[in-house]
Order: sequence, then C-alpha cells, then structure tokens
Amino acid sequence: MKAEILSMLSAGEAYVSGQKLCGELGVSRTAVWKVINQLKEEGYEIESVPSKGYRITNRPDRITAEEITSRLHTCWAGRIISYSESIDSTNNEAKRLAEQGTPAGTLVVAEEQTQGKGRRGRSWMTPAGTAIAMSLVLRPGNTLHPDRAPMLTLVMGMAVAAACREMCGVEAGIKWPNDVVANGRKICGILTEMSCEVDFINYVVIGIGINTGIDGFPPELADTAISLHTLMGRRPDRAKLIAVCMERFEKYYDRFMETQDYSHLMEEYNALLVGRGGRVRVFSPGQEFEGTSEGINAEGQLLVRRDDGALEEIFAGEVSVRGIYGYV
Ligand code: BTN
Repeated sequence: MKAEILSMLSAGEAYVSGQKLCGELGVSRTAVWKVINQLKEEGYEIESVPSKGYRITNRPDRITAEEITSRLHTCWAGRIISYSESIDSTNNEAKRLAEQGTPAGTLVVAEEQTQGKGRRGRSWMTPAGTAIAMSLVLRPGNTLHPDRAPMLTLVMGMAVAAACREMCGVEAGIKWPNDVVANGRKICGILTEMSCEVDFINYVVIGIGINTGIDGFPPELADTAISLHTLMGRRPDRAKLIAVCMERFEKYYDRFMETQDYSHLMEEYNALLVGRGGRVRVFSPGQEFEGTSEGINAEGQLLVRRDDGALEEIFAGEVSVRGIYGYV
C-alpha cells in the first residue's frame, strides 16, 4: 500500500484527498494516516491540509522497492524488487535468489555493495547514496541458447544509455561492447553471469552499476570515469532512472528475443555507438591492429575495416577496442 500511496502522491503537484486515497485503495482513513506517518519517519516531507488532502513537498533520494515501484511502468521487469541497505554484491544476491526460484524480472537493488564485482575479476565501488547497483534476473530457459546469453549485456547497455538520455538529458552512448559513456568517460558498467546446462539456461543475472554521484575517483579511474552528477550539475532521481532502465530493457529484450540476435536492434545500437566511423585499435591475444569502426552486425560483433580494405569481425571477450585518442 505504501508504494501505491507514494505513486498517487507523486502523480502531480496537486493535493490528493484522504477520501480519494481511501476510496482507490479500499482502506480506512486510519490505515492511510499510518502510512503517511511511516513515510514522514523515512524522511518524506508531506503537507496535510484539511479539506484538501496530502501533498509531498520533499522526498529523500532513496531507491527502496516502494520508490522504484511507484515510478515503474513495466509488465515484468522489476515487478519484484529485493532491496538492501548494504549487501556484498547485488549479482551475488540475485544468484542466491535465482537458486531459490525467484521469478524472471526480479530486480535486486542495494544502496551499498561491500564486494561489488566488475568484469575480469576487478572490483566495483558502490559507496552508499552515490550510485546505482542493481541486478536483474532473467529466465529464458530453452528459448535462448546459452551461447547467446552474453548478447543480453549489449541489450542492457542500450537500455541504460537510452534511459540516461531520456531521464538525465545526458548525451550517453555505448563504448563497444557495453560500457555506457558520456563525454568520453564511463558512467555505467555491466556484468552478466549465468547458470546453464548444455542447451538450457537456468537463469541469467545482469548486473548494472551506474555512477550517479561518485566524484572523487581513485587515480586509476580518474581519466576514464565520470558521474551523472558532474554531467548534469545535479543528482538524478535514482529511483526514476532505475524504473526507466527497466522499461527500456523490457522493450529491447522483447525485440531481441524475436530473433535472438540484434537484427531489430542493430540500427539503434549503432546510432548509440561512440567512435563509429572513427579510428580504433583492437587488442586481442597475439595481435593488435588499427582500423575504422563500422558498427556491430546482427551477432553483436564489431566490424573493423583494416587499412587494406579487409573487414574483421571482432568478438567481445578477451578483445578490447579503444579509440586511438583515448578511452573511447
Ligand atoms: C564492469 O567492470 O564494467 C562491470 C561492472 C558491473 C558492476 C555492477 S554493480 C551491480 C552488480 N553487482 C556487482 O557486483 N557488479 C554489478
């Protein structure tokens, strides 16, 4: 009921009468009053004017289940939310819940991660209040071959880039394969993990770390990372950003699953891809070369045109690709 009251009070600037809240939720005035008091204890400033009703005048920047749910318009993505103030890693928690049978679309969110994980065994910082750490559980079962599961990482990259553009007004793009970047620096990293049989996916967990407010980076990240706070000049509404990421992901995921490749998404992905048409250097085990980035194909491989005209299809994985003048 808390999420519904928050949602009704958030819908506009106007007062919402106690009678309307009671009527739509089918509860007593006392029940509404109790929830309003709970919200005040959690830091919401709520004005109550006799004969007009209630109005939120200030809300804390929280990413609890209620805050996200009250902004969420999806059919399945993020419809179940597990929130923790502090956790080892949202990916670990999502895997634990998935092992216990949590349904597809479950979203694990934490204010702080104590052992956040990055790709290739690196660690990922998530100090409380300054970031988004979340992990989405998917269960494609036998509708997606396990070989194709890593492709979902790019789908999430598109969703986050689109959400940052729409919600934060930031010119977010994608550094292939799936870092979300703006102003030539990284704002989001994605880590996908999976449990599968030879031809059946038990579950996929897609972990997303978005830097909303960290500004003092350690020296090794100072040149490559940036926060939405720095880009926007203010902090984004994190709960809304999470909700919009889920909405975008759900839409892109459904399109991806129609063909189980990027046939329907390639054009949009390539429009978001930074450095397309520009010079890149490809680092793969045993070889290193330069060429021109031509965007991804339907398999998600990066097409790089060598100077002698040959077209290379680059698989993600051990390969890294950089613009020749910097991180992107
Ligand atoms: C990268 O190295 O770019 C990927 C970083 C992924 C970080 C996110 S934060 C939420 C989720 N939980 C984790 O432990 N990692 C991912």
